Amino acid sequence: MINISTQFFGLKLKSPVVAASSSMTSNLDQIKKIAHAGAGAIVLKSLFEEEIHMQLQEELTRRKPFEPDEEYLDYFDYIIKDENLKNYMQLIDQAKKETEVPIIASVSCISSSEWISFARKLEEAGADALELNLFLIPSDASKSSDYNEMFYFDTVKKVLEVVDIPVTVKISHYFSNLAKIIKELSATGIAGITLFNRFYSPDVDIENELAITADALSAPSEYLIPLRWTGIMADQLDCPLAATTGIHTAETAIKFLLSGANAVQVSSVLYKEGVETIGKLNDGILNWMEQKGYEKIDDFRGKIKLNTKNAEVFERAQFMKYFGEKTF
Ligand SMILES: Cc1cc2nc3c(=O)[nH]c(=O)nc-3n(C[C@H](O)[C@H](O)[C@H](O)COP(=O)(O)O)c2cc1C
Repeated sequence: MINISTQFFGLKLKSPVVAASSSMTSNLDQIKKIAHAGAGAIVLKSLFEEEIHMQLQEELTRRKPFEPDEEYLDYFDYIIKDENLKNYMQLIDQAKKETEVPIIASVSCISSSEWISFARKLEEAGADALELNLFLIPSDASKSSDYNEMFYFDTVKKVLEVVDIPVTVKISHYFSNLAKIIKELSATGIAGITLFNRFYSPDVDIENELAITADALSAPSEYLIPLRWTGIMADQLDCPLAATTGIHTAETAIKFLLSGANAVQVSSVLYKEGVETIGKLNDGILNWMEQKGYEKIDDFRGKIKLNTKNAEVFERAQFMKYFGEKTF
């Protein structure tokens, strides 16, 4: 009997296909459908630190031209946070009651500050684990890489001090020394790292000469950067790895498992093809395992090495072999 169970979020998951955090995972009806489709876990839409700040900013703007009343704004700040948090806790509670699948709370953090006290509440509400969506675009040239990196380690340390549930992080690849950061984060006591989050990117509309937002959904070709780094890092870490970005098919999911990932987190494909895709991804993995004679994921997980010892792959990374052989 083929078994596709795996280990991530410090938990045993019945499938390596996880529904990534997005608006798809922000309401109970969708969550139930995703659970029914066979997801290994569901990461809820993030509670955004940033969003809370924005709501406060809107209130400040609304109150103009009146002089802001400090006391009122403090109170308003408290109300927004309290309300956001209460709704989120209710969603965790309902999702836990109405599904069998692990429910992962998620917080998007832009600073390692007061929201950390929320983490405890998410645990109390019944979340099985907590994913920290840590993001900082290092665009401020006056800040050193050490300064920027401290945010990641500070946040993880503070959260681990306040909760007992497993904590995982989802990061971007915007680091000056990516391998070192991933390795050091893996040794902090977290239960997993997901490579790499995908941000809304700016684009340019040349007709109207305007800055616009690029496609919010990933293309299937975008899996190559997370795949490379999964392959480079997987056997060097103290915690399991998962991958996200551009995973739209069972074939791509299998590539990540072969390169050492324990799980894959999918989002765009659920918007494009519906949540039933999760069942298709599970079936695709099962069928491939059957063809290959594998009984469990650990029979082949990490079989392909994409690290620096694999000279041929790295030669190709430099384009030399590929273009050297071709005549155009
Ligand atoms: C509409 C949308 C909303 C998202 N919201 C969140 C979020 O709240 N928190 C988060 O950590 N990631 C969020 N993501 C990122 C996804 O969880 C995922 O990591 C990313 O989209 C890459 O996976 P994909 O290529 O399968 O979409 C969002 C993605 C999309 C498309």
